Amino acid sequence: MSDILTHTDAGVMTMTLSRVDKKNSITAAMYTAMAEAIQEAARNDAVKVLVIQGHETIFSAGNDIADFLNHPPKGNDAPVFQFLRGLSTLAKPVVAAVAGPAVGVGTTLLFHCDLVYAGDNAAFAMPFVNLGLCPEAASSLLVPNLVGYQRAAELLLLGEPFTAETALEMGLVNRIVPPTEVNALAHKQATKLAAKPLSSLLETKRFLKQGHAAAVQTRMTDEAVVFGRMLGEAPAREAFTAFMEKRKPDFTKV
Ligand code: COA
Repeated sequence: MSDILTHTDAGVMTMTLSRVDKKNSITAAMYTAMAEAIQEAARNDAVKVLVIQGHETIFSAGNDIADFLNHPPKGNDAPVFQFLRGLSTLAKPVVAAVAGPAVGVGTTLLFHCDLVYAGDNAAFAMPFVNLGLCPEAASSLLVPNLVGYQRAAELLLLGEPFTAETALEMGLVNRIVPPTEVNALAHKQATKLAAKPLSSLLETKRFLKQGHAAAVQTRMTDEAVVFGRMLGEAPAREAFTAFMEKRKPDFTKV
């Protein structure tokens, strides 16, 4: 069975991360499938709203570390960047349902969703520095815009996990519910959106995003260049090797 499941019903396309045994970590093949689903959502008139969801125990552990180590994304057309560009420029509304850990891109993709619902077990983190990397998905622009510089610096330099309550207070999350209810709530809200005039949804989203749209794409491209370079350097290799060897990374020698 595919690790990315999609189905469309009553104007709502649902994209489900379904690799629970590996904590919904995302491989290049999964990014390609996600980018294709987003393209389909954009061009198919039967789709008015996209829902992104995981499992009630895990949203996503972020990039698949082994896959990243063995097949690092090369250039701006790598599957991860195609996915992020597609999501961040999708004109139709996107609703996310997050339960359990949402690590790395599992958190940063949410900055490109319009409505985000979280289970009370959600745990967000952007541990790029801890992995010898830099932010991606324009998070270095969007996080300070959302929470101010110092709080953004804490989130992105220390990279510690934060709770659903904190995400709600930051404005990243719209509402917190029990994990078993989060996917249903996202669908309920998506169905409400799908019943509204699409042209009004599109114009409203476009105006909501207009202030930062160009800057987001520029920052995402700039981050991708540095992120790609850092993936091949010693700190990231040490962090990723340590994760696979189930030990703490030692950055004293890199
Ligand atoms: N890439 C590849 N495999 C991953 C993964 C990732 N990002 N995250 C988890 N897995 C795998 C583990 O290796 C393990 O595989 P195994 O059963 O073959 O040993 C399995 O998923 C379960 O993970 P585990 O760490 O035992 O689960 P947990 O419930 O204790 O912790 C997380 C869950 C998400 C907190 C933890 O897995 C984690 O921190 N993952 C790494 C997150 C990360 O740094 N992502 C950023 C990448 S840029």
